[in-house]
Amino acid sequence: MKITEKYRPTKLSEVAAQKTAIRHIENAVERSGLAGSSWWIAGATGTGKTTIARILADEFTQTDFTVYELVGRDVSVENIREHERRMAVHPMGVGRCLIINEAQDMSDSVVSILLALVEKVNASKYDMIVFTAMVDVLELKNDPMNRWRALVGRCNQVDLADIDSPAFQAEAVDYLEGIAASEGISGVDVQALCNKAGWSIRAALNALDMQERINDTKISQAERLEKAASQFEYPAFDQMVERLRPAYESIGAELTQFNMHATIKTGTRVLVKRRNKIVEASACQVGPKMFSDSEGRWYWLKNVTKILT
Ligand SMILES: Nc1ncnc2c1ncn2[C@@H]1O[C@H](COP(=O)(O)OP(=O)(O)OP(=O)(O)O)[C@@H](O)[C@H]1O
Ligand SMILES: [Mg+2]
Repeated sequence: MKITEKYRPTKLSEVAAQKTAIRHIENAVERSGLAGSSWWIAGATGTGKTTIARILADEFTQTDFTVYELVGRDVSVENIREHERRMAVHPMGVGRCLIINEAQDMSDSVVSILLALVEKVNASKYDMIVFTAMVDVLELKNDPMNRWRALVGRCNQVDLADIDSPAFQAEAVDYLEGIAASEGISGVDVQALCNKAGWSIRAALNALDMQERINDTKISQAERLEKAASQFEYPAFDQMVERLRPAYESIGAELTQFNMHATIKTGTRVLVKRRNKIVEASACQVGPKMFSDSEGRWYWLKNVTKILT
């Protein structure tokens, strides 16, 4: 499953970095409920508009068959007429919801007839409608007849957070760091990654996912080398350790087996298992897999439990 779908919030309380907008929505819902409501959710790309629309629809409809989702540029006058016809009948389940994403791309003629549809929705017990749109839609439109203004004005307007605000950025970083941690993705500067992603949470998640795949390939390459290296005799092995180290370190991963080999040098004191007892030993000769103490006893590196110095 795509990481963006895996982490798509399914409850308002799970939506990150949008506290003010969510509070606004919850207040409005508490005041007047979802039946007969119209919403205009505006915000930057990838910050939760469609997610919130689906959560609201889900809460109201309680069955997938009564959620209709369209994309602004594809909406035709006929689509709207069709929805009007649907609205003449009692919906299956509790309610019915039309979501129009990227509403800024709707044509002016669609907007005209939507005015009437939204009026009907606002008077219905069974319906709601949610538009999701770019932030500056009204500034963007040449709107001499004020149709766009009238449409937006008939809806509960919800402005998502300004992506340039420190609060949004801090919360987004927090949220993404949490996901990086739970996905085991290390060595990523999340703040820098978000900046590069233009503060779209979707783009940042995709970038994290990509990073994870890069990490995975790097680790598996390093592991292949590690395996190959263990065939070599010391000191070729030691050189190999040094070759691998940057690959591991660049992703913040631990060079576990290798750390052991690299750390144990002549004179290193360790605790090591010998015949089921832990004994202290000082390394005298070190090989790829074993080392000997000053009395010539050999130990497996894998039996080392602690490095003392
Ligand atoms: N506020 C958020 N909290 C948690 N996850 C988010 C948030 N915003 C976006 N995401 C993640 O990004 C994905 C896409 O989000 P969504 O579809 O809601 O974006 P959008 O605002 O509708 O973007 P667009 O303008 O491009 O349509 C979600 O599946 C989710 O994984
Ligand atoms: Mg969307």
